[in-house]
Amino acid sequence: MIALGTIDLKKTFRKKGQGPVEVLKGVNLSVYPGEKVAIVGRSGAGKSTLLNILGGLLKPTSGTVTRPKNIGFVFQQYHLMPELTVWENVMLPTMTGRLPPADYAARASELLEKAGLSSRRKHLPSELSGGEQQRTAVVRALVTSPEIVLADEPTGNLDAMTGADILRMLADLSRGTGVSLVLVTHSPEAAAVCDRTLRLENGVLVQAGA
Ligand SMILES: Nc1ncnc2c1ncn2[C@@H]1O[C@H](COP(=O)(O)OP(=O)(O)O)[C@@H](O)[C@H]1O
Ligand SMILES: [Mg+2]
Repeated sequence: MIALGTIDLKKTFRKKGQGPVEVLKGVNLSVYPGEKVAIVGRSGAGKSTLLNILGGLLKPTSGTVTRPKNIGFVFQQYHLMPELTVWENVMLPTMTGRLPPADYAARASELLEKAGLSSRRKHLPSELSGGEQQRTAVVRALVTSPEIVLADEPTGNLDAMTGADILRMLADLSRGTGVSLVLVTHSPEAAAVCDRTLRLENGVLVQAGA
């Protein structure tokens, strides 16, 4: 059983008047339930392209992705809704949910508590620090109990200490819960919280260090 898998995933960007940009040239990836996989690679290697395809935000040119319906996403730029409070932001993914709102509310409260954000529920994102905004985004990613969380350089905008808090939250989420994590990162500390690290290089995934 796998939590998420790809077979020979390819992505080429084409724009009129410009040569095609072949970003992914045959990505094969299997992520097992509860497994945490780090993906590293230089800037422009195609990491965000890959993660967006894994999450269904972008269509591959060819190849297949198998994934659960329920996915959590965390981005480098937080992507919170600026006019919504912390509470409204974390409850947003539950609007299309299968559970009664009350069940989600209990889970959201518990996650906000764990994230040290209980006193910030009524605040707007602009009233929070970067770390608090990202913790809010992590709670939002977890509130519907997804099978897998996809995170694109979630500590990229944060200082080392604050980034470490985010990594701890992401690592804790999979402990004993069977939640899988795919973490795109530049940081060795981030890769260290994962079970294995892959490098995206020349359009394919290779074992890091190989
Ligand atoms: N929508 C797009 N149209 C054309 N080229 C794109 C598009 N999105 C990404 N690219 C190109 O694909 C390559 C990989 O980008 P990206 O996936 O963002 O890399 P990374 O996240 O590893 O830094 C880059 O050369 C980028 O310019
Ligand atoms: Mg990127």
